[in-house]
Amino acid sequence: MKGRSFLTLKDFTTEEILALLQLSGDLKAKKKGQGCPSKLQGKLLAGKNIVLIFDKSSTRTRCSFEVAAFDEGAQVTFLTNSQMGKKESIEDTAKVLGRMYDGIQYRGFSPEVIREIARHSGVPVWNGLTDDDHPTQVLADVLTAMEHTGKEPKDLKFAYIGDGRNNVSNALMIGAAKLGMEYRIASPKELFPSNSLIAGLQEDCKASGAIISVTSDIAEAVKGVDVIYTDVWVSMGEEDQTDARIALLKDYQVSMDVLKASGNPEVLFEHCLPSFHDLNTAVAQEIHDKYGLSELEVTDEVFRSKHSVVFDEAENRMHTIKAVMVATLTDIF
Ligand code: CP
Ligand code: NVA
Repeated sequence: MKGRSFLTLKDFTTEEILALLQLSGDLKAKKKGQGCPSKLQGKLLAGKNIVLIFDKSSTRTRCSFEVAAFDEGAQVTFLTNSQMGKKESIEDTAKVLGRMYDGIQYRGFSPEVIREIARHSGVPVWNGLTDDDHPTQVLADVLTAMEHTGKEPKDLKFAYIGDGRNNVSNALMIGAAKLGMEYRIASPKELFPSNSLIAGLQEDCKASGAIISVTSDIAEAVKGVDVIYTDVWVSMGEEDQTDARIALLKDYQVSMDVLKASGNPEVLFEHCLPSFHDLNTAVAQEIHDKYGLSELEVTDEVFRSKHSVVFDEAENRMHTIKAVMVATLTDIF
């Protein structure tokens, strides 16, 4: 995988994604002092320079890239407020950054921007979230489910409840198609994923045995699953749609009843985070004042329950992002 960008899981084979998950687990064991294969010993990214461009807010993704880089001996630059797209074209900026850095992380809006950076920089570019995709998130989500269930990805069943056409759900669907998982979306029909995304994954589903389904019926979606997943109802950049989203999604909150409807007493709850499960944020307080809601996509009870693995999942962002950088910057594979 050396020299390749990580823009979407669509660009990777089943075997490559499984290898990234294995590497993530090995790097996690290394970090925890539990030993690792000899090829992973030492500082794997020593001498590398990495730039992190963020056009949207972030806690987990930024910190994961930074800690992962530092752990393996790389240096990072955190870049906001650059000239890119304002006084300098994306093409020219990408060429400049490619002269200085070994890898570029980009988080932003249009997928076209990250593709343009990847086309012109000449170094690996990693997608830290765009409007349509969030591929590093999926590696952490699947690794966490594997760790807690002991299952191989092809035996995992996920139900995603909420905004069925957002970046996280799209990315999970692509990951599921590649890995042979079952992926069910429960969403109001206005927020169903695009037919073209589903159609484009049919070949992968056929090859891997994945089953993707979309319904408005939560009970149907969650029956027998290993993981119930949700994300915010309003993604970054869509704040002007808050009224409409709350109207569409208020009946799609993940509650204890939704977990019970799975029929799986061990069902896991996952969320990419950040989450509106209480009133302890400025935005949640504003929404409460306007709409009278004190919890949005998930109840506080579920979030804090024994089913919830959200903080393991957040930690796994770091181990999986480290694997992506090591795989694309070194000769490890
Ligand atoms: N899950 C995730 O991407 O979190 P951040 O927005 O904090 O990076
Ligand atoms: N769908 C969310 C994910 C945040 C990690 C957003 O794009 O804001």
